[in-house]
Parts: sequence; structure tokens; C-alpha cells
Amino acid sequence: MRDLMSLAERPGIITLAGGFPDTESFPREKFDEIERVMAQDYLASLLQYGPTEGLRELREAICRVMAEEGARCDPDSVMVTTGGQQGIDLSIGTFVDPGDTILAEGPTYPGAVPTFTRYRAQVRHVPMDADGLIVDALEEMLDALDAEGVRPKLLYTIPNFQNPAGVTMSRERRVRLVHLAHDRELLLVEDNPYGQVRFEGEALPTLWELDQGAGWVVYLSTFSKILSPGLRVGWVAAPPPVLRKMNLGKQAADLCSSTMSQRFVVEYLRRFDYREHLAHVSGIYRSRRDAMLTALEEEFPAEATWSRPGGGLFLWATLPDFINTRELAARAIERHGVAFVPGGGAFCDGRGNNSMRLNFSGVSESTISEGVHRIGNAIGEMIELQKAFGGGE
Ligand SMILES: Cc1ncc(COP(=O)(O)O)c(C=O)c1O
Repeated sequence: MRDLMSLAERPGIITLAGGFPDTESFPREKFDEIERVMAQDYLASLLQYGPTEGLRELREAICRVMAEEGARCDPDSVMVTTGGQQGIDLSIGTFVDPGDTILAEGPTYPGAVPTFTRYRAQVRHVPMDADGLIVDALEEMLDALDAEGVRPKLLYTIPNFQNPAGVTMSRERRVRLVHLAHDRELLLVEDNPYGQVRFEGEALPTLWELDQGAGWVVYLSTFSKILSPGLRVGWVAAPPPVLRKMNLGKQAADLCSSTMSQRFVVEYLRRFDYREHLAHVSGIYRSRRDAMLTALEEEFPAEATWSRPGGGLFLWATLPDFINTRELAARAIERHGVAFVPGGGAFCDGRGNNSMRLNFSGVSESTISEGVHRIGNAIGEMIELQKAFGGGE
């Protein structure tokens, strides 16, 4: 996968593979103003180490950001991380011993898969439909695991605009999931990088809020999608005893997150309304999603299906069984100059081989249309090949 993706960086390749927000839209004057304040008022401290748990002012600001989604929190329950990715690493590293079973949606965030592997977790996937994780199926899995004498350490879930499936967990399922977590003493790791990148509909309650401080939810998020991934600032909200353990893990990993980036976020949130920026980029992404949906209708075969995300950065498309999207990705890059993420990278059990993740936030509408057109051509060639070898219709 990595080798394939490095080809995607060649000039002339259209990439619908990465999870890139549109940083072109970041206002230059705001950046300049923050840089000026940082140099004038904070130079010595922002060149210095900071506390492992993060700057207090940032942790307070994070609580206000969470409140925008109705999630109440206090700064002592928050630790700043180096991107949301470190939050995943610390959560898995804190709770999982080699060989432990964990649960994750199928498909799951492809970037979490190497973390699961790193800590040698045994991953079982919980199925999803258009309303997100199927809680009935989870309950059945828990019963089956119980019968085998296996107690899963945690469930990793992305309730909003799931990466890669592009679906959102319904309100009713969120409530049921939290009840189930309480009944079965199942820790939920809720990853919510996209909750505020919403194109339509009302915000749904976070699992963190529904847990009401009972201690069964570890909440992860990041400024990567609401400000910029170059900052590498994310956070974990968790009960203080869990945070103390994670703090030790973070000390071992990197001592503290960049004080410069943390100060940048504090000053941005103090001076400007990040919701305005978010509304601006969400408008751009909504049009790009629409461009992708239109292109898929026009270019993909009738048997293909795809999700229609109400926010976030990705959608998930599934092709006829006989098309292996890893082979398709190689052909698409080599012959057609377009990249996407083959679905197999989002599963830990060999599934997803006829699916793909497509990103719609990183490139313009016309580039999206051209990219989908090229993938459509590559699919057409594979269908022709299949016919030539006597299979499929
Ligand atoms: C679900 C999910 N979690 C975590 C991350 C990582 O976020 P960050 O770039 O802040 O490390 C991403 C990035 O795409 C993501 O999609």
C-alpha cells in the first residue's frame, strides 16, 4: 500500500487517496497576525518545553470547542496530543496487551490499523449500515466472545462521518451503544475528528456526553480538520486516572506536543471565530462531495454502490466482487494517473477487497470529476478483461 501511495506523489497524478483538508482556504492575514503576537509576546515560552498534558489555556479552549457539540468537559480531563493519531496510539497502548481482542467498525480508519498491529491487538470488526455501527450485531458478537471466554478490551468507533465509510451513527444507536457499554463494562474509544465538518442536519450527541461522566468513554479529536493538520495538535478527553496513565505514555513518546503549535491554536481561537472558517471550508467540501456524487453516477458501473456522507472528507464505494481494488489501484495509478485508497487497508481480516475510499476535500470539483472519470475508465478495462477471460457479465 505504502509503495503504491508513494507513486501517487508523482507529478500529474490526481490523488483522491489522502485525507487532506483544503489548507489553501486558510486566511493569510490571520496567520500573519498570530505569528506577530507569538513573536512579540511569547517568544521565549514558545521556544521552550511545555507540560506533557498541554498548555492550560489550550485545554480550556478545547473544552469550549467540545461544548460546541454539546460535550461537557473540564480541563483536568483533557490532554493535548500530537495530532489525533497520537490519541489513538496512546489509547491502544494504554489498554491493550499483546494478543488482547479489541473491536472496531468494519471498515475502520486505515491509519488506525498499523496502531492495532503495533500493539499486537486481535481485531474483530463490527458491521455497519447507513446508520453506522449495528448495535444488535455488536451485542451478538459480545455474546459469542463471552462464550469463547474472550473479553474485548475496547471498541474503537468513529460515530460522525466515519472514515472511511462516510456514514453517521444514528441517535438511537448512540444511546443504545452507551447503555450496552455500561451493561457490559465495555470501554468505548470515540474518535471524532469530523463532527464539526457537517454539511447538513443537526449535530448528534457525542458518546462522551451520553456517558455522563460514568467513565466508559475515551474521547479523541484533533484540530487537523477544523484548522490545519500541519499544526499536529489533537486531544484526548478521559477520566483523570486514565489520563495519568496516558501521560506516562506521552512522556515516553515525545515529552510534550509542540508549544509553538499549541500557542498558535490558543491565539487563533482567542482572536477569531473558528466556526466561520469551518463554515467556509464545509461549504467548499459540500460542493466537492456533490461533484463526486455526480461523477460517480456518470462514471461508475451500475452494480457499484457508494455512501452519501453528510459531512467529513470521504466516501466509500463498493464494486462488483470480481474487481480487486488493490489491482485496480495499481492500474489506475500506472495507466490512468489517479490514486485512491483500496478498501483492504481498512480491514484487519482480509475483507474490503472490492471497495475503495475516495477523498473529496483535497482537490477542486473539476479535478474530482476528472479523477472519477479516470477511475471509471480503469474499472471499465477490468470489466472487459473479466469478460475476455469468461467470467462475469
Ligand atoms: C478517524 C481519524 N482519526 C485520526 C486521524 C488523525 O488525525 P491527525 O492528523 O490529527 O493526527 C484521522 C486523520 O485523517 C482520522 O481520519
